[in-house]
Amino acid sequence: MSAFYKEKVLSVQHWTDTLFSFKATRDAGFRFQNGQFAMIGLEVEGRPLLRAYSMASANHEEELEFFSIKVQDGPLTSRLQKIKEGDTILVGRKATGTLIPDNLLPGSRLLLLSTGTGLAPFVSLIKDPDVYDRFESIVLVHGCRQVAELAYGESVVATLRDDELFGPLLSEKLAYYPTVTREPFRNRGRITDLISSEQLFNDLGQPPLDIAKDRIMMCGSPAMLDELKGMFESGGFLEGSGNTPGHFVIEKAFVER
Ligand code: A2P
Repeated sequence: MSAFYKEKVLSVQHWTDTLFSFKATRDAGFRFQNGQFAMIGLEVEGRPLLRAYSMASANHEEELEFFSIKVQDGPLTSRLQKIKEGDTILVGRKATGTLIPDNLLPGSRLLLLSTGTGLAPFVSLIKDPDVYDRFESIVLVHGCRQVAELAYGESVVATLRDDELFGPLLSEKLAYYPTVTREPFRNRGRITDLISSEQLFNDLGQPPLDIAKDRIMMCGSPAMLDELKGMFESGGFLEGSGNTPGHFVIEKAFVER
């Protein structure tokens, strides 16, 4: 048995010069938990060329979806950005990752903090009815340099708001907070600053950070993750893992592509 499924590309959407998303068929045997990642890629010169990608689709969905950067001289993404409907991609059989609700202690508010393509696992998680059962409220923060980089997230959230099942859940429980650092936008600033200044919570009209209630998942640039981890740990928050649930969990948005 091959270590990979061969899947067909169903559609590709380019959001900016540096960001695209695509959908592919999903083998009925491919199981994953929402928030996890798998190795995916292309066959290049007869050999698999793979990188870790979070599934942006939820595990109840029939198709797979991924959100990717385009690195001009990146071994994989220089090629992957050219895929078209009908092309074949490889999907590793084993999904893994720490951004799963079981790695968190019970809590009432879930903060999903992302930059760039670190949004992807949270796109999967906000399509998980179990997440809405576990938490009274969910805050999805997506930080980017430019407004255009928010487009995929904006589109996902807008589609879910119109969904028969998820529309009511989103309006009751989900606060979506896109923020931009390098041009004008209604929300501005780095996630670290928005949390330490409490501006995020003030803007949302929500209470400040509370270790008794808040559980956190973060995915994005290593520098942001380091800073956030330090901030939360100095407040007594503990990192969770597969063995020990904690107050927060972390996954790097993989950038060497
Ligand atoms: P900034 O524009 O101030 O660098 P990138 O495209 O470099 O991955 O960055 C994505 C977003 O993450 C940008 O808005 C960027 O802000 C922000 N960012 C980068 N480093 C940090 C950090 N150490 N803490 C918080 N946000 C960061």
